[in-house]
Amino acid sequence: MAPITGTTGAPHARILGVGAYRPARIVPNSEVVDAIDSSDEWIQQRSGIRTRRWAGPEESVQMMSVEASRIAIERAGLDVGQIDCIVVATVSHLLQTPAVATAIAHELGTDGAAAFDISAACSGFCHGIALASDIVRAGSARHVLVVGVERLTDILDLTDRGTAFIFADGAGAAVVGPSDTPGIGPVVWGSDGEKFDLIRQREDWRDVVGSDTQPGSGVMPHLTMQGNPVFRWASFAMAKIGQQALDAAGVSLDELDVFVPHQANMRIIDAMARSMKLPESVRIARDVADQGNTSAASVPLALDRMMAEGEARSGDTALLIAFGAGLSYAAQVVTVP
Ligand code: COA
Repeated sequence: MAPITGTTGAPHARILGVGAYRPARIVPNSEVVDAIDSSDEWIQQRSGIRTRRWAGPEESVQMMSVEASRIAIERAGLDVGQIDCIVVATVSHLLQTPAVATAIAHELGTDGAAAFDISAACSGFCHGIALASDIVRAGSARHVLVVGVERLTDILDLTDRGTAFIFADGAGAAVVGPSDTPGIGPVVWGSDGEKFDLIRQREDWRDVVGSDTQPGSGVMPHLTMQGNPVFRWASFAMAKIGQQALDAAGVSLDELDVFVPHQANMRIIDAMARSMKLPESVRIARDVADQGNTSAASVPLALDRMMAEGEARSGDTALLIAFGAGLSYAAQVVTVP
């Protein structure tokens, strides 16, 4: 057996910079309600959403990712050539292959960075941060760019009462790099595949295209969701996962400054904060009110906004938690860059 040289990485990893791209078009509830026989009052009361952003034709998954990434790299104080790995979390890059990450790496001008997509729906960004932390500490790359991006309007049925008012578009990015002290805590992650059908693409692409013996539907397979069971699962089970991530990082509730949960629904955010008994001093991300639910982009968008508005300051301790289709989830404590 030939001896193989092992890898050695940085002692620890941390987030070095965060960036965001929000589509230009702001869509108020009044533009959504007619097609789903709803009202501004109902949507605000059930979800806390007042407006969302929907991408225009030019605001592709790739374009939004590149814009958010350029900002994150600049804020990290790096040149793009120093990014040697890109992880893109998305479920709305509609070309099955290749991964959009390679196109993003090329457009950014990286020096042939390793680049791949991951599919973990709304929890994708927190999965990406966990991977990036491990990659940096293992020595497989020095600076990893993690992107969470969605153009969910491409797969939304605007006449579906359960989803049309919730989902939206955008991109967020973070650069993870080496650190002398821990800046990203252990990830607490998992899945519950028994609930596979609760949020899903309605049908397989083969059912759309059809076969020699079976005609296809020819209709875009939209996103479907059984909102009520998802709501109950997220409100209760996810609070326990948040606490586990704090315990794994050795951080007490009193030491927590910022809570950035997936921006699914304001009632879920409030229920989690109550279940976790977060002290009044913890500042809570509430980006969903005017951004909608942007799936993989929601956590970095919310964190970016808190940093821009001074609610999350450099050196603060933040709990990130994201959950969604699969069902899948991931949470970790991080230091705000
Ligand atoms: N507008 C107005 N009324 C609506 C409606 C809409 N868009 N959708 C459903 N309703 C009505 C229903 O017909 C029902 O009426 P009824 O009481 O007369 O029968 C009533 O509202 C309650 O329906 P229900 O489906 O039980 O609503 P809900 O309280 O569960 O709220 C959601 C619906 C989607 C807002 C809620 O389930 C939710 O937010 N779930 C989690 C979704 C989420 O965050 N997913 C992302 C995770 S990644």
